Amino acid sequence: MTSSEIRERFLRFFEKRGHAVVPSASLVPENDPSALFTTAGMQPLVPYLMGEPHPSGKRLVNVQKCVRTVDIEEIGDNTHATFFEMMGNWSLGDYFKEDAIKWSYEFLTSKEEGLGLDPARLYVTVFEGDENAPRDDESANIWKKIFSDAGTSGERIYFLPAKSNWWSPGDNGPCGPDSEMFYDVTGKLTAGMTKEEYLAADERQDVVEIWNDVFMEYEKKDGYVIGRLAQQNVDTGSGLERVTMVVQGKDNIFDTDLLAPLMKTMEVRLPYYGSQTSIVSSERERRIIADHMRTAVMMIADGVIPSNTDRGYILRRLIRRMVVKAGGKLTPENVAALVAAVAGIYSGVYDKVGDNIENIAKEINREIEKFNNTLPRGMKELSKIPAGGMVSGAQASMFFTTYGLPFEMITELAKERNISVDEIGFREEMKKHQALSRAGAVEKFKGGLADTSEKTVMLHTCTHLMLAGLRKYLGDHIHQAGSNITVERTRFDFTHPEKVPRETLDKVEAYVNEAIGKGCAVSIEQMPKADAQARDVEGSFWEKYPDMVNVYVVKAPEGVVYSQELCGGPHVGNTSAIKGTFKIVKEEASSAGVRRIKAVLE
Ligand code: SER
Repeated sequence: MTSSEIRERFLRFFEKRGHAVVPSASLVPENDPSALFTTAGMQPLVPYLMGEPHPSGKRLVNVQKCVRTVDIEEIGDNTHATFFEMMGNWSLGDYFKEDAIKWSYEFLTSKEEGLGLDPARLYVTVFEGDENAPRDDESANIWKKIFSDAGTSGERIYFLPAKSNWWSPGDNGPCGPDSEMFYDVTGKLTAGMTKEEYLAADERQDVVEIWNDVFMEYEKKDGYVIGRLAQQNVDTGSGLERVTMVVQGKDNIFDTDLLAPLMKTMEVRLPYYGSQTSIVSSERERRIIADHMRTAVMMIADGVIPSNTDRGYILRRLIRRMVVKAGGKLTPENVAALVAAVAGIYSGVYDKVGDNIENIAKEINREIEKFNNTLPRGMKELSKIPAGGMVSGAQASMFFTTYGLPFEMITELAKERNISVDEIGFREEMKKHQALSRAGAVEKFKGGLADTSEKTVMLHTCTHLMLAGLRKYLGDHIHQAGSNITVERTRFDFTHPEKVPRETLDKVEAYVNEAIGKGCAVSIEQMPKADAQARDVEGSFWEKYPDMVNVYVVKAPEGVVYSQELCGGPHVGNTSAIKGTFKIVKEEASSAGVRRIKAVLE
């Protein structure tokens, strides 16, 4: 079975069980200032897990593109990847544990409709309970019945603590206990292992997690579970790479059809020369290059470009790490071949990649060229530090700012040479330079969803009003090209060819403040996509939305509509809740044909 068939089967299986198919959101989160990338299938669905009605109903199914770099150290092993696809079925306050577990099992094992995996090789884990929630006996009992009906004898259910069986996207947001499914990739294990034996099998990657049913009925704030949500949700996630691996009988994801063609191209383009004269010195390094290349291609296809901050920095890190690992062999021709290999794998799935092969390769090559100008000198400097020595904070910051070596790579290269790095000193140094704080980028990335604090919600509603104002005074060619909101400000990119005069910005400001002053109601209207388009609702990525859409309408008491825009929220209920005066503090070029505004609430 190919990975494409697996995707299709998953969607059809749940569609048949009343789920609406929703398209994958972009890797770049919209309206979520706290996360750099979409890291889980649930991320674009947070407002709906928190209780907002989803336009497609209470049962959804999707295959979501994700990027996670928290596991970056793990990349190159059998099962981790920085880019992956998460298949998920969703209950938004509809069915709960019984159906979720039953369907997971059915899909995994059914030959007709599912994957036809061997039930005797399946093991599951269940939450053991703690101060936040009781032991999940309900799930364990559902599993017991399933296994006993199937005649798969012997113990295969293990209770584990929150560390492994409580899922949350970060310190804030919906969360809950989960039940995870593992598959014996060796075919040699037998049921009845003790918990210790089972955990050891997990450690050896003899069993691999292929599915996670999260019972999201709790909420976290600042790292603590604060109580139950208004509704009981199910968030299931099944990693396509891993499922494909077990279905195709491989013991690692790089041998599946999702990566093998890329690995093949690499064999030709970056041949293996053995560890001493290394070009690509080990299989692991080759896997790392393949992983990073695939992720870089996907990121660029979704509009990310290399830079020194935020998501651009993550991309930069991935590309630069590839360059070092490939030992100078990432020539423009080789890059083009590797990008084409990735596009080939996803043709018919994410055509955005295939349609932009040349641009994507160009972007990667530009970054490589930049790095190639400084890398050799950086490596030479690094080689001067004797083994057992230490890279000081000032030196590390010099490697970064002068030679373009990302901090993580300095540590990686230093480690290979048995040199330590003064990380605290580096951070202090970087703060002095007012440049990138690696801690900031990484923490922001790890944190997942931050508290949708009141201030960001207010600024989000202001951003809608501002876009409406820009369209009113500058014309309908204006659309959103990017948005990023923090508690301090909203940063908004939009399509417009030239500088916007200050007088126009003043008018836009006044428009927003007028709407705030009037106390406009903000309501969600659900409608078919075609109706929304006909009603002149603003939206920049129509093709990404399902057939039914949520439109946020800002309407004054006397009936004037200030803004109507496709969105997933969250917004204030009434503009009178917005505290302060809206001010546009900056307007500048962002890229060709795109302007950028920074605005605040004072
Ligand atoms: N949110 C869970 C995960 O990412 C299940 O989808 O594992």
